[in-house]
Amino acid sequence: MTRPTICVPCRLAAIAAAVGCAAAAFAWTAGWLTPERLTAPHIINTFERNYGVHPGYRRNHAKGLCVEGWFDSNGNGTDVSRAAVFAPQQRTPVIGRFAIPGSNPSAPDASVPVRSLALLFRLSDGEQWRTGMNSTPVFAVHTPQQFYAQLVASKPDPATGKPDPQKLAAFFRANPDTQPFRQWVSTHPQSSSFANTAFYGINAFIATDAAGATHAVRWQVVPDTPFEAETAAQKTQPDFLANDLDTRLAAGPLRWHLILTVAAPGDPTDDATQQWPDTRERIDAGTLVLQQASPQSEGQCRDVNYDPTVLPDGLKPSDDPLLAARSAAYAVSFNRRTREEATGAAQAMHAAPSPGDPHR
Ligand code: HEM
Repeated sequence: MTRPTICVPCRLAAIAAAVGCAAAAFAWTAGWLTPERLTAPHIINTFERNYGVHPGYRRNHAKGLCVEGWFDSNGNGTDVSRAAVFAPQQRTPVIGRFAIPGSNPSAPDASVPVRSLALLFRLSDGEQWRTGMNSTPVFAVHTPQQFYAQLVASKPDPATGKPDPQKLAAFFRANPDTQPFRQWVSTHPQSSSFANTAFYGINAFIATDAAGATHAVRWQVVPDTPFEAETAAQKTQPDFLANDLDTRLAAGPLRWHLILTVAAPGDPTDDATQQWPDTRERIDAGTLVLQQASPQSEGQCRDVNYDPTVLPDGLKPSDDPLLAARSAAYAVSFNRRTREEATGAAQAMHAAPSPGDPHR
């Protein structure tokens, strides 16, 4: 049988068309063809315009440190999820990162009302579960568009170095679903330590059990260490959180319980500004143990992208629109900071840590 011949110009035209389509797809994804469409680079560029570029650092939650430990599952999580991390008597190694939000890696710890903990679980079957949690049970905004609008409204005024209060007030007036977050922050004092802070995954996820049934869940880690409020003395120490953590870890490991909260039918899974009622079922799935901290410039968390959509079999994203936006924005931030590390742009920064800050 003879193969049909295709003329050379036709072949070249087909190749050119394929390349052109791929280029157009990339251009569309990057937002070049639709400049009015909100994209992840728009969000990250706005962080950089507002707060400058700090080479090698995350564009948000820039100030932080790495921690290591493990999760001991008690088997209760199998009620809702078949993920290997919830199997009875299962110990899963964890690479974590404590941080505070904001783009300035030298910001004083007391300058923001939120702390964060990100975790990467390395499951025995080779899968990973990554999560980034904040110390508030709700998020300020419901949609990526609102997140972007809030970022634009928060741009520091060059005269004061702070956001223009009128622009921020206008944003809050136009976005009343920011109210539960603002209410929570204004009625809860800051913690004195990462160790006595509860951290919330905030977004909803869908867990699948061994029988294939699905359950909408949220998770949080609740510390064994009793809560104490930030002191007046701590407010004057820019790096008290890292120093406090070192002191506590020198005395032994720190523990949190991993709690899964199960939604009832009708609870919203697409709105991180709303808590579910307190009466929802809570499953204590086991104990998170953190035993060692290291500076983020050399610790294992440095090159981790805590993308909340990296999930093992048995957990998957919900319909919350923030999840896809987080995944896309974290990837852009990760690409820029790791490129800066690779090209040496970040070296000068790490070579000259600020006095008294052991975890830059
Ligand atoms: C559209 C919404 C959001 C955007 C655009 C956004 C943006 C970012 C960016 C750019 C980073 C740096 C990522 C990196 O370079 O590795 C980051 C880190 C982080 N975000 Fe978000 N975020 C959003 C929503 C949230 C929500 C809802 C939570 C809480 C559940 C959250 C918690 C965190 C945490 C804990 C980190 C630090 C992760 C680490 O330690 O590496 N973010 N965020």
